[in-house]
Amino acid sequence: MVLSTHEHRNANMHDTVLEADDYTYSLLRGLTARDKRIPSRFFYDAHGSALFEQITELAEYYPTRVETGILTMYGAEIGATLEDVAAFVEFGSGSSTKTEILLDHMTELSAYIAIDVSSSALQAAQQRLSLKFPSLLVETIVADFSDVVDLPKKFQNSHKAGYFPGSTIGNFYPDEAIKLLQTFSKTLGDFGHLVIGVDLLKDVDILNQAYNDKLGVTAEFNLNLLHRANAEAGADFDVSAFRHHAAYDPKTGGVDMYLVSTRQQTVTINGQSIPFLEGEKIHTEHSHKYRLEDFKSVAQTGGWMTERVWTDHDQMFAVFELRTVTPKSRVGLRGAEAHLGAQ
Ligand code: SAH
Ligand code: AVI
Repeated sequence: MVLSTHEHRNANMHDTVLEADDYTYSLLRGLTARDKRIPSRFFYDAHGSALFEQITELAEYYPTRVETGILTMYGAEIGATLEDVAAFVEFGSGSSTKTEILLDHMTELSAYIAIDVSSSALQAAQQRLSLKFPSLLVETIVADFSDVVDLPKKFQNSHKAGYFPGSTIGNFYPDEAIKLLQTFSKTLGDFGHLVIGVDLLKDVDILNQAYNDKLGVTAEFNLNLLHRANAEAGADFDVSAFRHHAAYDPKTGGVDMYLVSTRQQTVTINGQSIPFLEGEKIHTEHSHKYRLEDFKSVAQTGGWMTERVWTDHDQMFAVFELRTVTPKSRVGLRGAEAHLGAQ
């Protein structure tokens, strides 16, 4: 039976995520903490995902442009490292735009599995990719990738590789990034293989401009957190009484984004009062900027060895190929596997 795109999409959509209650609970937990915060995964409702796509096209926001340039220039080489992969698993896939560049080079691929908290982004990507790659099975899973994600059983024995572009790893502090990389190897199973995009430390003005664009799209993306809280958690934020603030902080090693209360005020969420002083900040995102060596060591502590690194001419951004075991021990393991298989 040939499924229509719609049926096909529903047949393959696994939704394991974020009940509304989890959202309100996490929001309240963050806003009642001493240093107020909202988890950055909450940016990505349908409007937030659309705003992120606008950000990727801004003149100031170099990461998407530079990473796409690296993938375009070295796509064949990166694809060659993935040539025997049967199932490609992307974490935080969003629009899956960059993925298409690699899919073109992956000749043995039979399935692409996209994991994201944004169901609207997943649906749009699935529709587009199913049309563009008709022989590819495109599966979507709405889930938080910080937890081990149960991949559909049929992929249990497939040769899998993970993909984590966009420097979304930067939205985790290095100690959290180590844990996330450990979780990815559990999700992917044996013989972990991961291609990951990492934004690099650079001139502070370039960093600050990337998160303070002239058109104000990043500000709108940030403030959308409050619109979402009003719509989904029964909050009564006066969004006009908060302003966007983002700056590179040498103490944290990344760009930290905040919403700043422009006056003393009280906000109510689900009946709970949350007081704000004038100038009080809600931390909404950390975007870590790595030195190449520092990311290698984070990866290593998380159980991943760096095999290859591709960067642009100005070393603005890097694409790493990581494996959970070294090539030498992999050969040994494959030998052991073959030997066991022959018994
Ligand atoms: N990979 C795309 C999108 C990056 S934006 C690119 O490179 O352009 C970050 C994406 O990760 C968004 O689509 C967001 O919805 C998703 N995301 C953020 N935190 C997540 C989490 N904890 N679990 C699953 N998806 C997450
Ligand atoms: C998805 N993530 C890597 C982006 C970043 O640059 O940290 C999100 C973003 N925040 C503001 N602009 C873009």
